[in-house]
Amino acid sequence: MPELRRRAPGQGLNRVGTIDVHTHMVPFGWPDLSAEVGPGLWPRLRVDSEREAMIMIGAREFRRVDERCWDAAARVADMDAEGVDLQVVSPTPVFFSYGKSGAEAAKVARIFNDLVLEVCAPARNRLIPFAQVPLQDTDAACAEADRAIASGHAGVEIGNHVGDRDLDDEGIVTFLQHCAERGIPVFVHPWDMPASPRLDRWMAAWLTGMPAETHLSIIAMILGGVFDRVPESLRICFAHGGGSFAFWLGRLENAWHERRDLIGVSERPPSHYLDRFSVDSVVFDPAALRLLVDTLGAEQVMLGSDYPYPLGERPVGAVLERADFLTEPQKAAIRSGNARRFLAL
Ligand code: CO
Repeated sequence: MPELRRRAPGQGLNRVGTIDVHTHMVPFGWPDLSAEVGPGLWPRLRVDSEREAMIMIGAREFRRVDERCWDAAARVADMDAEGVDLQVVSPTPVFFSYGKSGAEAAKVARIFNDLVLEVCAPARNRLIPFAQVPLQDTDAACAEADRAIASGHAGVEIGNHVGDRDLDDEGIVTFLQHCAERGIPVFVHPWDMPASPRLDRWMAAWLTGMPAETHLSIIAMILGGVFDRVPESLRICFAHGGGSFAFWLGRLENAWHERRDLIGVSERPPSHYLDRFSVDSVVFDPAALRLLVDTLGAEQVMLGSDYPYPLGERPVGAVLERADFLTEPQKAAIRSGNARRFLAL
């Protein structure tokens, strides 16, 4: 397995480096979950060749995946080609199983978290595994997060909601407090978008549903008073630039002042909490990245790509390369410095 790329003096990883905080994996195989966990509709992998497979939900084709999902050497080859030193490797949300019982989801989490470690093992100096947890069951989620960290994971990825429970749900807040106390970084990924005939075309669930889901989750943490309750030490990052949050912060701020009778229990206006969370840079357009930096600060944005999925940004960091408005120190912070703090490297 390739070691870290050699760099010219002064360009060492500690000086700059590139860390991609948003990538996904799918293991090449996992046990029959209906036999291992319990009856029901579970994801399985239809292997089409050594390099290609299809995630199936029952008889439905969910997503085509290829070896980049499970082969560390293929990932590292791409990372070398695009100048990425480290990848945070997160589960693919379809495995979260939040709709199942907590006990079943805990079993699934153990299975997939152990498989993530196997996928990352051949390139442990390049691939940083993040775990999934059974978020519908707070005690089980805390226990699995602790087990995963003890076994080699560096953080957790959670879905942005559990059914109708958003991130201000008491049980989820308890989990976030646990992560803050244990120093476990949390990556929040949208998933389980609302379904309707209107959203079931043009990939609308991905194009408008995901940004709206993430926007809602950040609002839930702010207006639901979560940032008033969880320690400031919580390190939490939202995918896809935080969805549509930054664009509509002004509307949110106005609503908080004008309709305090209707919105939220936060002690302070929304703009007070902007330094409490990070977002990734997967926004494609330098103007959108500029809005993020202007709104949240360059310290709150981390390079991400959504590798290896088709709605991700390639080559990794392309939007950052085109961001002429950023200073070199700001670019370095987004490229790796902020991720080093997030990951406590
Ligand atoms: Co993603």
